Amino acid sequence: MDWGMKNRLSQLIKSDGHCLFMPIDHGYFLGPTSKLEKPGETIKPLLQYSDALFVTRGVLRSCVPPDNSVPIILRVSGGTSVVGKDLANEGITTSIKEAVRLNASAVGLSVFIGSDYEHQTLMNLSNLVNEAEEYGIPVMAVTAVGKELEKRDARYLALCCRIAAELGAKVVKTYWCENFDKVVNGCPVPVVIAGGPKTDTELEVLEFVHDGMQRGAIGVNLGRNIWQNQHPVAMIKAIRAVIHENASAKEANKIYESEKKKK
Ligand code: 5RP
Repeated sequence: MDWGMKNRLSQLIKSDGHCLFMPIDHGYFLGPTSKLEKPGETIKPLLQYSDALFVTRGVLRSCVPPDNSVPIILRVSGGTSVVGKDLANEGITTSIKEAVRLNASAVGLSVFIGSDYEHQTLMNLSNLVNEAEEYGIPVMAVTAVGKELEKRDARYLALCCRIAAELGAKVVKTYWCENFDKVVNGCPVPVVIAGGPKTDTELEVLEFVHDGMQRGAIGVNLGRNIWQNQHPVAMIKAIRAVIHENASAKEANKIYESEKKKK
């Protein structure tokens, strides 16, 4: 692996081998998502606890200060909306030239395996890897399911992650599920856990993150369950404790409870 690629990956994955990526890319198909209406405000207190920010070029340019030193994973797929026909019908929206210009540490795109757009989105991934490798830029593949959240079981997610790795993704982001080790064990590149819609309790999130880490994930790419929480800083600190300090879910929940009392 070339120095540039290794260097970018080491910006994203910390020296303990773990990572906490914070996605704020939701607007690319959801519009002004709750608590992300003003992304610049949302991320202000959270940036210092994030190992990378997953963001589109539009929000990066308009809402993230250029003196920000948190590594950027640039969301480069899109072209669909939640009110349109099919969320899976994505193309590549952003060139590698733009990724270089924006000093991105990685680029990320979604693949929709099993959908009508499986071939198209897998070719998006393959073509993106071909171009990104030229410049030593890692590609993170997101195994997306659109509105079909019930698809998320170990057999399906293992299939998706393996295919994404085979086509050249350097990191794969996928949903947590029961028997998550089956997903990780079949994937030859690091796996990060996606968050999904906001859960009822903090403990639920901390439990699935902890379970996923114990079963081989290297970290998370988790957004709504952090910044839609009433106490986002307390929540990100609790999740960091699971990821970087090997805290149990209960220990992390105690951190959340004590941090949320702080001003
Ligand atoms: C959407 C994405 C988002 O980055 C990801 O789903 C957001 O994370 P969360 O679900 O935790 O809010 O890739 O396809």
